[in-house]
Amino acid sequence: MSELAITPSVAIPIQLVWFVATVLFVTGLRKLSIPAKARGGIWLAGVGMLLVISSMLFHPGLNSNFMLIAIALVSGGLLSVAHARRVDMSNTPQMIALYNSLGGLAAACVATLVLLHASEHTSAVKSLAVLGVAIGCVAFAGSLLAFLRLHGKFTKHDGFAKKQVAYLANGALVLLLGLIMATSATAHPGLLAVFVILAMSFGVMITMPTSAADMPVLVSFYNALTGLAVAFDGFIIANPAMIVAGTLVFAAGSLLTRLMARSVNRRLSEIMYSGFGLSSSFVAVQSSTDHINTIDARDAAVGMAYARRVEIVPGYGMATAQAQHKLRELTQLLDERGVETGFAIHPVAGRMPGHMNVLLAEAGVPYEKIRDLGEINAEFSDVDVVLVVGANDIVNLAARTDPESPLFGMPVLDIDKAKRVIVLKRGDGAGYAGVENSFFSQPVTRVLLGDAKDSVQDLITSIKGMD
Ligand code: TAP
Repeated sequence: MSELAITPSVAIPIQLVWFVATVLFVTGLRKLSIPAKARGGIWLAGVGMLLVISSMLFHPGLNSNFMLIAIALVSGGLLSVAHARRVDMSNTPQMIALYNSLGGLAAACVATLVLLHASEHTSAVKSLAVLGVAIGCVAFAGSLLAFLRLHGKFTKHDGFAKKQVAYLANGALVLLLGLIMATSATAHPGLLAVFVILAMSFGVMITMPTSAADMPVLVSFYNALTGLAVAFDGFIIANPAMIVAGTLVFAAGSLLTRLMARSVNRRLSEIMYSGFGLSSSFVAVQSSTDHINTIDARDAAVGMAYARRVEIVPGYGMATAQAQHKLRELTQLLDERGVETGFAIHPVAGRMPGHMNVLLAEAGVPYEKIRDLGEINAEFSDVDVVLVVGANDIVNLAARTDPESPLFGMPVLDIDKAKRVIVLKRGDGAGYAGVENSFFSQPVTRVLLGDAKDSVQDLITSIKGMD
């Protein structure tokens, strides 16, 4: 049993605090699934975490390190607040990857300390510590590389077939060394160092061949791994708060990974082993606005004002332009004219899960106006005008028809079934996957060029001018 295990003198107050924190974690997580309450959920979980950290300061085993802990808490807290404030919405996946790598590192460090004092522990504790080190190191190195990849520092590494042997050998060595350490009376520091390095290189080997488009799914997977490592650490040092927090992160991360992988129609194994046909053609294509049919705001507004049903497809461009409030105003205007309006949400629209839902909820768009991919795809044939607002990949029909496309296999919104499509975009920019959307040059489609927020304002002004 670790010296950080709670003693009877502090058991009741500390356990009470941990119980409250657990309730806050669970309630916070529950609220995160409801966009309008998500912000409150984050706060609740944050307060829970603060309670757990604070409770540990009263632990007898930590009193001697109080100064070091205070320095770490203040500097870490200040750095993360300053950093998180600077990160804009489009860089959120990078930020999550970076913070998750730190979580994996911390979990691996706790388990490594236990292994360094292996002689004091039972073989069950040592086995959990081995798992904690291995999983924490994979999550740390894999997430850190994902962060660098998302930042464009490294590109996808092809030729995975040749690396399969190295991958398997690395995995087998991690297993072997892990077994040796779990069953030995003491862990040799040299052996432990090799184990740590091999576990980290395993994480690197998973991230390196993964396509940038699938990186968010992989980061979510690493997030689940970090939760698992933290839960193992909780067992090792007999800390129920860590077990609960780690298990919640593991469960939520696993579910999110599954959900995201299914949204882009891939199995996690395909994402991790690069077997899904993404090739080096995964680079931004040069496109041009010459071949698209443009429309001005007035004509677009007339088309919408006299339609029976208008569906809005928001994408990443809506988020960058912060056009959600204007869109709400536009739908209110159309509603007043008797036009049926709604929002069609693709599960990976934008740059993070629930990105569009959160922004639309923030703008006060009623939930009953929002439909997900499964629902709306059956209804597009009944839609007169689809207004695509800064979206590209989620409406790229090449995902259905072109096996060479990096998007092939991903379910997309079937906007081609609607009678008319109006696209708001600034110019010839491609989407996240770097591929042009040829549907934007089809006769049924008209492109209103400009920043999405300005274009929606122009549409509002034009519709108001019709009265
Ligand atoms: P994208 O494919 O990235 O397309 C965004 C479009 O918005 C571009 O065509 C761009 O064209 C336009 N745009 C950008 N800023 C604009 C502005 N201020 N005003 C008007 N238009 C603007 O977005 P999407 O369709 O939402 O697809 C999401 C992509 O991100 C998918 O490939 C998905 O796999 C990936 N991804 C998703 C997530 C999650 S979990 N949601 C996480 C990471 C990656 P212009 O430059 O010409 O304006």
